[in-house]
Amino acid sequence: MTLQIRIPYLAARIHPRTYYPHRHVMDKLVIRGGHPLQGTLPVSGSKNTALALMSAALLTPEPVLLRHIPDLKDIRTFCRVMERTGADVTFDPVAHTLRVDAGPLSRTEAPYELVKRMRASFYMLGALLGRSGEARVSLPGGCAWGPRPVDLHIQGMKALGADISLEKGYVVAHAPKGRLTGGDFTLSPSSVGATINFLLGAVTASGRSRLHGAATEPDVVEFCHMLTAMGARIDGLGSRTLLITGVDALGGVSFDNCPDRIELGTFMIAAAIAGLPEQPVTLTHARPEHLGRVFMQAFEQTGCKVRVDGSTVEVVPPRVLTPVSIATNVYPGFPTDLQAQWTILLACADGNAKVLETIYHDRFKHIPELRRMGINAVVVGNEVVVEGGNPMEGTAVMSTDLRASVSLVLAGMVARGETHVLRIYHLDRGYERLEQKLSAAGIDVRREPYDEWADPA
Ligand code: UD1
Repeated sequence: MTLQIRIPYLAARIHPRTYYPHRHVMDKLVIRGGHPLQGTLPVSGSKNTALALMSAALLTPEPVLLRHIPDLKDIRTFCRVMERTGADVTFDPVAHTLRVDAGPLSRTEAPYELVKRMRASFYMLGALLGRSGEARVSLPGGCAWGPRPVDLHIQGMKALGADISLEKGYVVAHAPKGRLTGGDFTLSPSSVGATINFLLGAVTASGRSRLHGAATEPDVVEFCHMLTAMGARIDGLGSRTLLITGVDALGGVSFDNCPDRIELGTFMIAAAIAGLPEQPVTLTHARPEHLGRVFMQAFEQTGCKVRVDGSTVEVVPPRVLTPVSIATNVYPGFPTDLQAQWTILLACADGNAKVLETIYHDRFKHIPELRRMGINAVVVGNEVVVEGGNPMEGTAVMSTDLRASVSLVLAGMVARGETHVLRIYHLDRGYERLEQKLSAAGIDVRREPYDEWADPA
C-alpha cells in the first residue's frame, strides 16, 4: 500500500508528465482561426532524407558530418537507434549538424522499443548487414493508417545473399561469408524504404547488384549522392533501374541534407488557404523541383500563382480557389504525404473534388476529425469526396498521425473560433518549430500542455 502511494508520488516529482497516476499530460496546439498568413516561412531540412543519410553514415568507420538536419523527434529517435550499435553520434539541434563516428560497432541490433516508435529504424537492416554482415532488427509492427509491410525489404536482402530468419518478432540476418554477395531484385510496388535498404546492403557487397523498380523520390536520389560521395558506385541515379558495383570500403564525408519537400508543399497549401488574396507569401530554403510536377500543376490549377527564384518560392493565392481532384502516386506523382493537407485546400475551394489514395488505401484517419469541424468530406473506398465552401468551426480534434495532424492545424487556421489540436506528439515527429514559424507569419497559434485524462469542466 505504502509503495503504491509513494512511488507514483516521487516519480511525479521527477517527471510529472509521465508518472502521475491520474494525469496524462501532453501538448496541444491552440489555433484561433481567421488570421491571415503573411510574410515568410522558412523550410527545414528534410526529415525523410535525413533518416536515410544517417543510416548511410553507419556504413563507414570514418567520421561523417551531416548538415541541415532538422530538430525533430524522429531524428532524435534515430540517433538513439544508431547509438545502440556503439556509434558515436553528436547532434547539434541549433546548428542542425549531426556528426557520426561509427568506428568499430559493438552491437548489430535495433530493438523493438525503438523501432516501434519509428518505422524508418528498419533501415538498420541494410545498414548493419552492409557494414558488419549481420543484423538483428525488430519488425516494425502496425501503423496508424493500416498495413505497412516490410516484405520487400526482406526479400531484397535475401536477393543480396543474406540468410534471414524471423525470431520472436525480430528479423535475424547474416551474410554467410561475412559479406553480402550482391544480386538482382525487382521492387513491385516501388518502395522508398525498400530501395534505401537494398542500396545500404548492395554498395559494400562483394559483387554487382541490379535493382529494378527502384523508387525515384528525391529522398532516394539525395541518398545515392551521399553514398557516391562516400565512394559507392551506383549507375542510373534517378532512374527506375540502379546498377550497383560493390566496393570494399566506404569513406567519411561531409554532406548537406536537402530541404523538406513535404513541409514546402504543406506551407504552399497554408498560403493558398490562409494567405490574403493577391498577396504573396514567401517560402525560403526550398527545393521546389523536389515536389514533382503533378503537385505543382494541380496547385497552379487551383488558381494560385507560383513564382520560383532559386530556393525561394512565392505563392500568390487567388480570390477564389478552384477545386482540383488529385490521385496520389509515386514520384513524380502527387505525394501521399500531402493528400491530407490537400483535403483542406479542397474544403476551402468553390465546388467539389476528390482525393484518390493509390499508395496507402486506408490513409484517411483525419477525415472523421475534420468532419467534426464542419468539413463535408466522405470516404468512399480509397477516395475522399470533398464539398468545398462549407464554413469550418473550431473545436477539439485529435491527431492520429503526422500528416493528419498538420491537416488539422491547417483547418484550424481557417476555422471560426478556437481549434485545439490534441496529441501533437505526432506533429513533433516531422514539423520543426511549426507553431513558431506560423506565428511569426501572422497565425494565432500557441502550444499548451493539457491533461488527456481530465474530466470535462
Ligand atoms: C516513405 C516515407 C513516407 C511516405 C512513403 C510513400 C520515409 C521515412 N517515409 O515510407 O513518409 O508516405 O514513403 O511516399 O521516408 N510496400 C510493400 N512492401 C514493402 C514495402 C512497401 O508492399 O516491403 C508498399 C507499401 O505498403 C506502400 C508502397 O509499397 O503501398 C510504398 O511504400 P514505401 O515507399 O515503402 O513507404 P515507406 O518507405 O515506408
